[in-house]
Amino acid sequence: MDNGKCGERAARSFRFASVAGFLLCLAVCGVVAGGQGLTGRWAASGKTMENGEVQKAILELKQTGSELTGNITALGFGTDVKGTATGDHFELFGVGWNDPKPFLVGDLVNGELHGKQWGDTFLAKPATAADEIPKLPYIEPPALHKVPNNGLAKTPPMGWNSWNLFAEKVDDQTVRTMADAMVSSGMKDAGYIYVNIDDTWEGVRDAQGVLATNHKFPDMKALADYVHSKGLKLGIYSSPGPRTCGSYPASYGHEEQDAKMFAAWGIDYLKYDWCSAGSIYKNEQLQPVYQKMGDALQATGRPMIYSLCEYGMGAVEKWGPEVGGNVWRTTGDIRDEWASMMDNVEKQVPTAPYAGPGHWNDPDMLEVGNGHMTDDEYRTHMGLWSLVASPLLAGNDIRTMSATTKSILLNKEVIAVNQDSLGKQASPVKNGDLETWAKPMADGSVAVGVVNLGSAPAKATITAGDLHLGAVTKARDLWSHKDVKFSGGSYSDTVPSHGILMLRVWAH
Ligand code: GLA
Repeated sequence: MDNGKCGERAARSFRFASVAGFLLCLAVCGVVAGGQGLTGRWAASGKTMENGEVQKAILELKQTGSELTGNITALGFGTDVKGTATGDHFELFGVGWNDPKPFLVGDLVNGELHGKQWGDTFLAKPATAADEIPKLPYIEPPALHKVPNNGLAKTPPMGWNSWNLFAEKVDDQTVRTMADAMVSSGMKDAGYIYVNIDDTWEGVRDAQGVLATNHKFPDMKALADYVHSKGLKLGIYSSPGPRTCGSYPASYGHEEQDAKMFAAWGIDYLKYDWCSAGSIYKNEQLQPVYQKMGDALQATGRPMIYSLCEYGMGAVEKWGPEVGGNVWRTTGDIRDEWASMMDNVEKQVPTAPYAGPGHWNDPDMLEVGNGHMTDDEYRTHMGLWSLVASPLLAGNDIRTMSATTKSILLNKEVIAVNQDSLGKQASPVKNGDLETWAKPMADGSVAVGVVNLGSAPAKATITAGDLHLGAVTKARDLWSHKDVKFSGGSYSDTVPSHGILMLRVWAH
């Protein structure tokens, strides 16, 4: 379990690095001149970030034969790495990260490490004292107490978030045009209300501790006013550590100041991402650290959804509501791939008892429409996220989405499953290649999804008994939008590979 948590943390750090397009890799290159191998302490300086700061990292490597071990520290981050060296060539992976591909690949060239980190060029040189990244003073987190419920998110929050598709390429204009598209596409009318800016909006903190926006967001208050004028709400992002996952300045030691500023801007939703807090606090301190911002948000008097982003660490589902949390991540980052999507939803199984009005498990944002899954897989993604009562935060370009993507995100009968007022999270009722999930609904009906995990179409059968129902009075296919007949207490249909059969079933 602990290893798993560490793994998630490492994964996070790496993801951030890749995202920021940065320096970890640089460090990696630590191959020592003179053929002594990669053992050593390497300083990498990466690209210039949106706020004008240059990304920096220190990579400590030990080479034993062709095996590499070590760690990397970047602006408050720390994570273990491992890899291989063959001659002057090396490859590095994040420890505990489930990625079969190295995040950093390079060669020793004239005593420097040259290579690519997730496509970005990197360069690292032997580190000197001047390269060391200063450690910040430790701030003791507060004693535990219960943060009062903010009364928000009676049903899972719905909206859009910039990260999955745009990453650092999000700016004021993108957000404004996305807000326009949320209205014109019908997303707003279907319930998608929050327009959430993820990482990379941050500038630098001044001597008074005020965190500015960077050049991409010239006036956050004006942007919030614009989004509000469309009948939508605006979300923002920070971290309890000194740096965000993209290595931008975050809220460590400035929680109240930042919360007040978010409220003054008119922010309605905060995603608070653990990231570099992991280099200061232990996992056992997640609760008080998250409580600190929960209190700060409440003290502003402005209702803001509080979204905890801690990748499922620390049994968050057990204490999320205590810190004022409305949603909390139960997994590492989703990727636009079938295996990643299914892995995230399978991890929801033990968390089911903890979902309910005001507080929801979050298997991460939607990838529907981002191009790397089939339409059947995206239907399954949307169907499962609705069944497990996850927040529905679209992560695609709403301005240009295809008719099929639109039909998936705007399927009102599926959305109704997600937004049901009872707030129950679906659990599997049958495993195997035809995995069946059932969600009790407020009106006594049951929403059910059968996912075909196999590689060929298969015949799925749903029985009233599977759903613990008596005589079925009505059944409706939520993707074909047609009533269907249960005969002899069951219903069968063919489900394409990686597709979903989704019904809502009423009974006496
Ligand atoms: C982490 C989060 C992502 C995203 C990025 C931004 O990886 O889990 O959802 O917010 O950070 O850097």
